[in-house]
Amino acid sequence: MKIKSAEFVLSNSDVAKCPTKNIPEYAFIGRSNVGKSSLINMLTSRKSLAKTSGRPGKTQLINHFLINEEWYLVDLPGYGYARVSKSAKKTFQKFITQYFALREQLVTGFVLVDIRHKPQPIDLDFMKWLGENGIPFSIIFTKADKLKPKAIENHVEDYKKILLETWEEVPNYFITSSSKDVGKEEVLEYIDSLNANMELD
Ligand code: GTP
Ligand code: MG
Repeated sequence: MKIKSAEFVLSNSDVAKCPTKNIPEYAFIGRSNVGKSSLINMLTSRKSLAKTSGRPGKTQLINHFLINEEWYLVDLPGYGYARVSKSAKKTFQKFITQYFALREQLVTGFVLVDIRHKPQPIDLDFMKWLGENGIPFSIIFTKADKLKPKAIENHVEDYKKILLETWEEVPNYFITSSSKDVGKEEVLEYIDSLNANMELD
C-alpha cells in the first residue's frame, strides 16, 4: 500500500473526545519504549510524525493520525512504565482500556513486544484482556535489528509456545525493525486487506 498522506489530527486522554469520523482505525499498544511511535513513523515514511524518545513515557495521550484521508493510525501511551507516578499510571491504564473497550471504529489492535525479551506477564495479561473483551489484535515484534536471524527465530518460537498455553492458535504476528525498515510492507498490506474487507461489508 502506498502512503500518500499522513497527518496528525488530535491528541487527548478521553476516548469520548477522539475523532468522530467513522473510518477504520488501527492502534498500537505495548510497554513504554517498545517502539510504538517509531513504528508509526516507519509505516508512514515520516521521520517525526509521531514523537519518539529514548526515555520511556514519551507518548502520554491518545494520538490520531489520518492516513490517505481514509483511515486512522493511533499512537497510545505505553503501559508498565514504573517511573510514572502511581496515580498517573492508573490514569493511563484506565483511558487505555477505555479506548479499546469503547472505540467502535477500531478494526484491530497491534500489541508490540520487544523481540529481545522473554514473554513478559504484562504483555500476556494485556493480550488476555483484549481476548476476553473480544477485541482482535495482532502481535508486532519490534527491534529485530538487535538480534541475528537465528536468535529472532528462537525468540519467536519461545513466544509462540507461551502463547499456546493460553490461546488455541498463535495470533497473527509480524517481525519488524523501525530503524531498518523491516516488516513495513507486511503490516501495511495487512491493514490494506482489512480496509478492503470493511468496504465489502
Ligand atoms: P512511549 O511513547 O514512551 O510509550 O515509547 P514508544 O513505544 O512509542 O517507543 P519509541 O518509538 O519512542 O522508541 C523508544 C526507543 O526505541 C527510541 O530510542 C527509538 O529510537 C528506539 N527504537 C524504536 N524502534 C526501534 C527499532 O526497530 N530498532 C532499534 N534499534 N531501536 C528502536
Ligand atoms: Mg510513543
